[in-house]
Order: sequence, then structure tokens, then C-alpha cells
Amino acid sequence: MISKLPKYLAIFSLLWVLIISCSPQHQQSTFANAGPVAQQQSNLYYLMFWIAALIFVLVQGALIFALLNFRRRERPIPGSDFTVPDIPPKQVHGNTKLEIIWTIIPALILIVIAIPTVRTIYQTYQPPEDSDPLEIVAMGHQWWWEFRYPDEGIVTANELFVPTDRPVRITLQSQDVIHSFWVPQVAGKKDTVPGNTNVMWLQVDEPGNYSGQCAEFCGVAHARMRFRVIAEEEADFNTWMEAMKTPPKMDTSEGYGLFLAHCSMCHSIDSYNENSYEKELVIQDERWDDWYFNQEESVRVSAPNLTHLGIRTMIAAGQKDLTKENLITWIKDPSEFKRGTRMQSVASVYKGGPAKLEDYEIEAIADYLLAQIPDGWGVVKSAGEAVEEEEMLVWNSAEEHGEYLFVNQGCAGCHSLNENEVIVGPSMYGLVDRSGDKVSGLSAEEYIYQSIVYPNEYIVDGYPANVMPQIFINLSEEELQALVSYLITIK
Ligand code: CUA
Repeated sequence: MISKLPKYLAIFSLLWVLIISCSPQHQQSTFANAGPVAQQQSNLYYLMFWIAALIFVLVQGALIFALLNFRRRERPIPGSDFTVPDIPPKQVHGNTKLEIIWTIIPALILIVIAIPTVRTIYQTYQPPEDSDPLEIVAMGHQWWWEFRYPDEGIVTANELFVPTDRPVRITLQSQDVIHSFWVPQVAGKKDTVPGNTNVMWLQVDEPGNYSGQCAEFCGVAHARMRFRVIAEEEADFNTWMEAMKTPPKMDTSEGYGLFLAHCSMCHSIDSYNENSYEKELVIQDERWDDWYFNQEESVRVSAPNLTHLGIRTMIAAGQKDLTKENLITWIKDPSEFKRGTRMQSVASVYKGGPAKLEDYEIEAIADYLLAQIPDGWGVVKSAGEAVEEEEMLVWNSAEEHGEYLFVNQGCAGCHSLNENEVIVGPSMYGLVDRSGDKVSGLSAEEYIYQSIVYPNEYIVDGYPANVMPQIFINLSEEELQALVSYLITIK
């Protein structure tokens, strides 16, 4: 027994070190309350803690008192070496008065705890009635978070932007298994249950980043299913919302082509477009069904929306800071940061192993993703003022303007003007003659216009779909008309 003492002491000291490392300053501490819901929840915790502490002291005190005063003593028999047991203290079995007292006291304690508990539970469902809450849908996925802003038409992932001092009502859903939404400093936990909808609300007092975590075991990467609540003053939050609906600078780099070929089946990247919200919801469900009903063969599965990834702070559901180096590692072999991702097991570019891509290709995709920033974002964010005026270019004719756009918007990178010369897409030579082959009677102007805006509807025979970027819809009407005027002159 004595020889084991140092070991017990060591274990005890170690435990003590672990216990005191639970600092209230930790970013996932439930004691560092950053909003009214968390405050309410910890008030309840403190109430129960102090009641329990009081009961502990009273019960242990009574126990120690009894141990010391009523312990069994041996009484020597005078004139002999023998001892006899002490006379037992007076027994109080069946004391009705005592039994009533110790039944009533715990019942009263339970009532004292139950009233504020039940009240707090209900208060965590809905924000105060006279408030104007921001509506959010938080969707749990294995193993990342989808955040939807139904009123604003925004979809994003793993980083939840909210305004400070305004209630946020969160509708909790899950596409696969049970997860739990928890932002220790702000609010939670509440489960996301497939086929069922839960609600909760939160509010953040001060701008800042608040760490969140899935709090219900949900599979292999459960511990890596983190997220972030980013709270900003209302004006900054509104800037963010506007930015989410602003396209990035046009990018037709190699990375874009590689992204389209290997990533775009699962990841949307253009949810800044009008009506893209509804589209994203539908396509996300399709991806899920595709995988769910045919897990052996499916090459797509629901995945985080990557629109404006460049302005996020983290990647891989809160695992790492968003840096080019981390992004490259992540694309190259997701299991470096997170084992068990569907991305790695489902996408054909991985199929369970590292990406089947050259290093320079991975870097090109990373560059492309990092460039996904709303046009003017940096300028607006730093100056707080409108973007400086673009240098005005003057055109003598629409055709001239169109020719400029053809070169500067990247069209010329894929489309030749010469007969039978294919760069990536079909040559523009004979473009006018092709009009009407998809929709009979379509005028050449209309055909060209529609092909730019909806490329997949007008695929030239022998060419694959989804290669031409579907982003030219973001050109202004004047620019589109200019392009059409130019292209129609190519014979
Ligand atoms: Cu999702 Cu644990």
C-alpha cells in the first residue's frame, strides 16, 4: 500500500494540472460568455453548481461528523486482556418526522432548479419577441457545416458571419447523421437531427471570432468538425453580405479549368449570382442523393460551397488557417489534416489516395481558389469607401468594344478565330452558320448571346459540357451586346 503511494500521488498531481488548465480564457470555454444566451446558460450552471456545492459540504460534513463521533470503539474488560465492542448508539430507524424532512428538502431543491431550467430551455429556442432576428439555417454534414442565409440568398460553409447585438435565429438540420451545434462562448449545444428541425438562437456582444465545434459523435472526423462564428459590427456585416453577392474578378486561368474538371461536380463556387441560392439547395440535394443511393459508384457527394473562399480564415472545417501552403497540402492529400473525408473517398481525382494531379496543377487550383474574392473586397474593407473609379475606355463602336472584351475576358484563350483550329473550345469561325442548329429559327445574335450566358445549353457537337465557365452571365448587358456585335462579324 505504502509503496503505491508515490504512483497515486503522481496521477493525482497530473490530474490536478489537467483540471487547472481548464481556463476561463480558453477560446472554447463556456465561462467566457460573449452573449446573452451563453450568459443565461452559465447563470443556470452557477446556480446549480452552488446548490450542489452547498449540498456536498452539508452531506460530507454530516458524514465526517458521524464517522468521528459514532465510530466503533473497543472497551477493555477490567482485569482481563479482552475487549468488548462499544454499545451501539441509539438507532433511529423508522423515524417518520426525519423521513418526511429528507424527502421534502430534495423535492424543494429540485423545484428550485427546475423552474429556471425549464424557463431557460424555452428561452433558448426563440429570440426575444420584439427583436428582428437574422435567419440562418445551419446544416450538419459529415464532417463540415453548411450555413444558409435564406433571406439574403447566401450559402457558405464553416464560417458563420453574424452581426453583433442582433439576435440570430438558427434552424438546425442535418443531411446525414446527428450532429450538435455548439459555440461554447456564445450558445449551444443543440442537436441537428436528420428529418427533424430544431431551433435555437444566439447573439454576440463584441466583434470577433468565436470557435465552434460539433458536439455529438458523428463518425470518424467528428473531432475535426469545427467551425467559426465571425461577429462583425452591423455595417461590416452588411458589407460582407453585399460582397457575397458580388462576383470575383474574372478568372480564366489554368486553375479555373482544373477546378471545373476535378472539383466543380461537388463544390459550387458561383453562388454570388442571382437565384443561385435556390439552385445550390437543389444541386446539394442531388449530390447527396447521388452518393447516398449509389455509394459504390458515385463520384459526387454534397460538399462545402466555396464561393469567395479567398475571404475565409480557415480551411478543412476549421482545421487550419487559410494559407496557400495549407491549401496545397489539403488539396494534395486531405488526410494530412483530416482523415475520412468524403472528398478523398468519393471524388475521382482521389479515390482514396492523394490527388492524381501534378504539383503545378495543385498550385494552380490553390491560386484560383485564393483569388475567389469579391471584386473590390480589399479596397472596400480597408478604405470603407467605394472602389476607385476604373479608367474609362472609349470605344468607337460596339464591335471594337467586343473585340477588346474577347481578348481581355479570356475568350481568346480557348476560342480560335481560324477555321478548324481548336484551342480548347470550338473555333469562332463559322459561328453564325451554327446558329439555329440547337433551336431552329434562332437568330444569330440570339444564338451567340445565349451561348455566352448559358454555355451548357448550346454545346457544339463533339465538345464536352461544363468546360466553358458559366460566369459570363455577370458581364453587363452592354458588354454582352458588344461581344455579340463583334462575334457576329467573324465569318
Ligand atoms: Cu458532426 Cu460530430
